[in-house]
Amino acid sequence: MKHLIAPSVLAADFTKLYDDIKMVNNSEADWFHIDIMDGVFVPNISFGFPVMQAIAKHAEKPLDVHLMIVDPDRYLKVCKDSGAAIITVHYEACTHLHRTLAAIKELGCQAGVALNPHTPVSLLQDVLQDIDLVCLMSVNPGFGGQKFIERTYAKINDLRSMAAGINDALLIEIDGGVGEKNAALLLEAGADVLVAGSSVFSAENPTEAIQILKNVEHSAKQI
Ligand code: DX5
Ligand code: ZN
Repeated sequence: MKHLIAPSVLAADFTKLYDDIKMVNNSEADWFHIDIMDGVFVPNISFGFPVMQAIAKHAEKPLDVHLMIVDPDRYLKVCKDSGAAIITVHYEACTHLHRTLAAIKELGCQAGVALNPHTPVSLLQDVLQDIDLVCLMSVNPGFGGQKFIERTYAKINDLRSMAAGINDALLIEIDGGVGEKNAALLLEAGADVLVAGSSVFSAENPTEAIQILKNVEHSAKQI
């Protein structure tokens, strides 16, 4: 499978969001990455469901929603009703992760789990078969434009080996500090989905930045 590109709307120009949504629609991007923050789980607040609904009205590609909020169960239904195709919750924010994943599936969405940089992938061992996507945070969540954490490559490798034979369809998504410089290495390590915020929206030509990420040359290992 060719890898997927998910531009993070957090880095878009909110004063011309419609134009940025159209740009993504007309680009080679696969998904819209939507970062929802509560100011509690992460030290920042982004935007909420009314804004996501506005995005959903114009987006022609699936919304990949990254919930950086405590107790996300409270918002799963509104998240689905606001247009989510994939709902990703944080391992660190869920006391009953297995139940939360089941609730996401019951809504008809794909279920993702995000791991902070300090959280080992081994903690997913017992829910691996219930997950469609694992989002490995390659920065501490909360802000765009941060420096990529190099340890992420090893985590991708570990997760890919761990999932082999248990969940071969698992998508590994990398979020934070991703751009033209590290895309090939991430794909070679086994990543399937690249989230890109500032490297896309701060580029002189965002459409071209997406195109470059989508067509990056690599020799991804086959499992
Ligand atoms: C960070 C968010 C990311 C962010 C990535 O908490 O989860 O999705 O938008 O931004 P860049 O690509 O600029 O690191
Ligand atoms: Zn994100």
